[in-house]
Amino acid sequence: MLKHLMFEFLCIVALTMQLVHAQSQSGFISIDCGVSEKSGYTDKLTGINYTSDASFIKTGVSKNISPEYNDNTLEQQFLNVRSFPEGMKNCYTLKLAPGNIKFLIRARFMYGNYDGLGKVPSFDLILEADVWDSVQMEDTSTIVTKEIIHIPKKSYVYVCLGNTGSGTPFISALELRPVSNSTYQTQSGSLLLSWRWDVGATDNGTFRYRDDPFDRIWTPYNRNNWVAISNSQPVDSTADIYRPPSTVMRTAVIPANRSSSLQFSWEHSDTTSRFYAYFHFAEVQENLGNQTREQAINLNGRTWWKPDVYEYLYPITISSTAPIGVDKIEFSIIKTGNSTLPPMLNAFEVYAVKEFPQLLTDQEDAMFQFLFFIYAYVQLLVNAVTKIKSMYGVNKSWQGDPCVPKDYLWQGLNCSYDDYSPPRIISLNLSSSGISGEISPYISSLALIQSLDLSNNNLIGPLPEFLSQLPFLTVL
Ligand SMILES: *[C@@H]1O[C@H](CO)[C@@H](O)[C@H](O)[C@H]1NC(C)=O
Ligand SMILES: *[C@@H]1O[C@H](CO)[C@@H](O)[C@H](O)[C@H]1NC(C)=O
Ligand SMILES: *[C@@H]1O[C@H](CO)[C@@H](O)[C@H](O)[C@H]1NC(C)=O
Ligand SMILES: *[C@@H]1O[C@H](CO)[C@@H](O)[C@H](O)[C@H]1NC(C)=O
Ligand SMILES: *[C@@H]1O[C@H](CO)[C@@H](O)[C@H](O)[C@H]1NC(C)=O
Ligand SMILES: *[C@@H]1O[C@H](CO)[C@@H](O)[C@H](O)[C@H]1NC(C)=O
Repeated sequence: MLKHLMFEFLCIVALTMQLVHAQSQSGFISIDCGVSEKSGYTDKLTGINYTSDASFIKTGVSKNISPEYNDNTLEQQFLNVRSFPEGMKNCYTLKLAPGNIKFLIRARFMYGNYDGLGKVPSFDLILEADVWDSVQMEDTSTIVTKEIIHIPKKSYVYVCLGNTGSGTPFISALELRPVSNSTYQTQSGSLLLSWRWDVGATDNGTFRYRDDPFDRIWTPYNRNNWVAISNSQPVDSTADIYRPPSTVMRTAVIPANRSSSLQFSWEHSDTTSRFYAYFHFAEVQENLGNQTREQAINLNGRTWWKPDVYEYLYPITISSTAPIGVDKIEFSIIKTGNSTLPPMLNAFEVYAVKEFPQLLTDQEDAMFQFLFFIYAYVQLLVNAVTKIKSMYGVNKSWQGDPCVPKDYLWQGLNCSYDDYSPPRIISLNLSSSGISGEISPYISSLALIQSLDLSNNNLIGPLPEFLSQLPFLTVL
């Protein structure tokens, strides 16, 4: 039976969700949300092939941003959005290319007054079974980018927009990139990007793919009390598993006061916040001669990384093996006593730890969604076309995981939750859903169901035998 269900599950994934996408940019999924179905394109700046989201999501409406926001520098992905006036939770289902474990997932938003209301909404971004982050925009032209490095629990991930009652959720672009499993390791949890800086950049622009094989976006960052140094030779980025781009690594900074240090500090009010920092170094000054550059990293005045000498045009990434959990964080890159040259830094990343504690709904129960779709699909073939609408009416809130996040439970369902096992579906209310025909045998896959309401539909035929085999079913 399970094998049979599994086969149908796979068929339905291939047939109706069209999840299987050939992505020649080695596992990349690049979605320009809201562009029309057949209008994929190759981005002029990055060479990344973007596809329409039509085959990743069935709900929402596509809209153009208001023309005055389209100056010639705006990236093409922001010209359209998909907006979700209906439903609490609307989900993209991304099928992961096999052979990868860890992914960078990036969602991007620019309001651009697409709805003519002139008022930016705020809403939740949901990843799998938990809220990933809250999306808040400063103004109508701000680009908000949310990025996470995450190990998905299944072979697909749900990225959903949750309506919090503060305006209509929308999305401009959704991107997924495989990254090496041996990079960005944590003791637990995923990594939310705080900053990714290309320090000492001589250009105003960001660098990403193809300079960066993982398509991280590096933002230029400089300070008045820093001096940029650079080298025109390429840096061998394959030397470091983090593969920092050559274009980012060949520029660096030193302090303007050659005897002082390079400092960064930040404070955070949430005492549970924990961070991981990644420093990327490569010597860019040729022929040091009798001079030496030896530097160490201090965290809040104590040695965090021992003195090191970095090789010419040969990158190395230094990162913490444990999360940093103090309220006020101050990093200083200092030169050691026998260093004749000031300390130097090429690039810097900081991530906050984000736990995803919630388990996804029990696999068999979650499969029910797909089985129900098969049933609905077969029903559609035998029923008149006018039934499509009512079928759709039942299903449109059924996106992403059925039971979690708890605030975004599917309409008509109730689930049981405990801390140790996946949530299970315990009741299903399909009353007045315009369903006709026989009772779906797929309901029998909900092994723990206690209550099933099928009233006010056009169901025919005898009460199926399998209902009596559901051990906990008490209300029908
Ligand atoms: C991107 O799309 C173009 C045009 O469809 C195609 O020729 C090219 O091979 C694609 N490149 C990648 C890396 O998928
Ligand atoms: C991926 O890395 C984690 C450590 O972060 C390790 O526990 C896991 O076994 C790795 N997976 C594979 C398939 O190498
Ligand atoms: C960087 O931006 C500034 C101000 O916008 C501009 O004056 C300068 O020419 C830009 N530099 C480069 C290299 O594009
Ligand atoms: C440079 O830094 C050193 C050490 O921090 C300090 O003693 C000195 O006064 C600074 N010089 C200037 C010109 O600011
Ligand atoms: C390094 O060598 C130069 C000559 O090449 C010399 O003038 C200088 O004093 C030397 N510096 C040190 C710190 O030895
Ligand atoms: C700096 O001095 C320490 C000990 O005083 C020594 O171990 C280290 O190798 C020296 N570094 C350089 C670059 O000479």
